[in-house]
Amino acid sequence: MILAEPILKIKNLKKAFGGLMAIVDLSFEVESGQIKSIIGPNGAGKTTLFNLITGVHPVSGGRIIFQGKDITNQKPHCGAGMGISRTFQTVELFGNMNVLENVMVGCHCRFISGLLASGLRLPRMKREEAEIYEHSRQLLERVGLSAKAELPAGSLPLGEQKTLEILRALATGPQLLLLDEPAAGLNESETDGMSELIYSIRDQGITILLVEHDMRLVMKVSDEIVVVNYGQKIAEGSPEVIQNDSLVIEAYLGGDIEYA
Ligand SMILES: Nc1ncnc2c1ncn2[C@@H]1O[C@H](COP(=O)(O)OP(=O)(O)OP(=O)(O)O)[C@@H](O)[C@H]1O
Ligand SMILES: [Mg+2]
Repeated sequence: MILAEPILKIKNLKKAFGGLMAIVDLSFEVESGQIKSIIGPNGAGKTTLFNLITGVHPVSGGRIIFQGKDITNQKPHCGAGMGISRTFQTVELFGNMNVLENVMVGCHCRFISGLLASGLRLPRMKREEAEIYEHSRQLLERVGLSAKAELPAGSLPLGEQKTLEILRALATGPQLLLLDEPAAGLNESETDGMSELIYSIRDQGITILLVEHDMRLVMKVSDEIVVVNYGQKIAEGSPEVIQNDSLVIEAYLGGDIEYA
């Protein structure tokens, strides 16, 4: 049997900020089509990991392999179709632009002529604009945000802003989606909606790497979990394995968290 190559390989990754080692020596793999979660206490290095994968910061050591290609220290340029997109721990939307425009910005990354289109109205570009508009409308429809398409993005409740940010990331057509705390600040029913959205993205064939503190969500949606503490992996496995790992309970779960 030939096993498919993991979509992402993190190999002996290191990141120092001055004297602080945010990531000490981290290795793990993500299988294509998985929902894999990274959990760990505040300051464990989770967001830093995303910043290294997306080239926001250079690594201090180690390699990042995506779809068999070494992407260490590469910035996923808009339009280059690198196949990775992300959301941010603190929502980053264009608050004054409307909801639809925020999704369209993501779509523009997929079209080479996208950024030129506003200046040069060539027929092909007009057609692409129309396609982007249609595609963005469909994405909004999918999450029930169509009625709010014309509202400023900043006026939406937090749950919808988080959903919108995910849509914008999806609009770039990624194979791998990095979600940094999509449920932070959401109430229970919004969190349930978020888990449905995460499932639906995975069902579309997109691999998901999820950073999240909400253990109910993590234990529900994850195929596998990596636990990091002080920039090192202390455990990896299925939700069942992780919940029963004594090191993890001591370092992070605290033993009094309910998952029901
Ligand atoms: N740009 C930076 N410059 C200096 N130090 C940084 C920078 N980014 C992160 N750090 C430090 O690296 C460590 C890891 O931070 P990181 O944001 O990755 O943690 P995290 O696991 O995402 O935490 P949280 O759960 O609170 O979001 C922390 O000590 C943080 O202060
Ligand atoms: Mg973080």
